[in-house]
Amino acid sequence: MAYDVLLFADPGIDDSFAIMYAILNPDINIVGIVSGYGNTPKEQSVKNTAYLIDLAGREDIPIIAGAAGPLSGEPVQYYPEIHGPEGLGPIKPPDTLQDVEVHDINKILEIINEYKDNLIIVNVGRLTELALMFILYGNDVLKDVTAFYIMGGAFLVPGNITAEAEANFYSDAIAARIVMEKAHNVRLYPLNITNKAIITPDMIEFLSENSPTPFRPLLQPAFDYYFKAYQKNVPGINGAPMHDVVPLMALTDPEIVKYIPRRVRVAEFGNSKGKSIADFRPKPDPEPPETLDYIGMEADILKFVTNFMEVFLQGDFEKK
Ligand code: BDR
Ligand code: CA
Repeated sequence: MAYDVLLFADPGIDDSFAIMYAILNPDINIVGIVSGYGNTPKEQSVKNTAYLIDLAGREDIPIIAGAAGPLSGEPVQYYPEIHGPEGLGPIKPPDTLQDVEVHDINKILEIINEYKDNLIIVNVGRLTELALMFILYGNDVLKDVTAFYIMGGAFLVPGNITAEAEANFYSDAIAARIVMEKAHNVRLYPLNITNKAIITPDMIEFLSENSPTPFRPLLQPAFDYYFKAYQKNVPGINGAPMHDVVPLMALTDPEIVKYIPRRVRVAEFGNSKGKSIADFRPKPDPEPPETLDYIGMEADILKFVTNFMEVFLQGDFEKK
């Protein structure tokens, strides 16, 4: 049976790969995509999601408009040099929005109630919308969600926005703190593993010739743009990390990631804003089990790559 997944994303190139991956993976049933600001402005993020859904013929997937900025009210910094001016590298997504309904944040509640006890939340964007759920509806609002799979943070490696902080945690550190505090059964996929989830140009070339999916024409141009940005930022890198695919894959193939249970805290302000903190001393302070988060510390990259290729190559993709 497939996992019912409510996905929060900010497409963005690796988010777009994650959305495509989730649509293509037969073990995932996406029950909604919340698209908010982050890599691009919220309106663009919604448009990009609508475009991918349209390509797949999956207009049955509800699109929910997320937040326009962080809880602090600070202006948003976007990242066109990494994700392209419109979030899909050089691709200008046609306006497919007029054909779809875009829901507001209340739809999240509706979905949570509909899939009670059987819903996985995967968050690969900023944490603003999830934090807002707690702020608007109270601490128990997400208690029936089975688990939270979150891409964010960086442990024992540098950040990618500041020396200490990763983008999803940094861009709304207040929200990240709230979510890590209040959500239960959290599995975290930080940079220390997602940086290694590298897909190379050869692999993408192969997919762009052989993927039988409707996403095929997008793969090469979107990847090339993203890879160029990584080559600039990380000299010598041999491909580009698909951060946002990791939590989705870890859900359907649990062997891929190994976890350490620790309570995760997030610094909200000052020079360490967005820094993820956990107690890695050999004898950490004791924590009650309900406050522990599961931090991804090791990933089987060969399995990651194989699974990624298999999903994009599977031949029985059917438009629903
Ligand atoms: C995260 O930041 C975003 O820019 C990527 O899409 C990913 O979710 C990596 O730090
Ligand atoms: Ca993202």
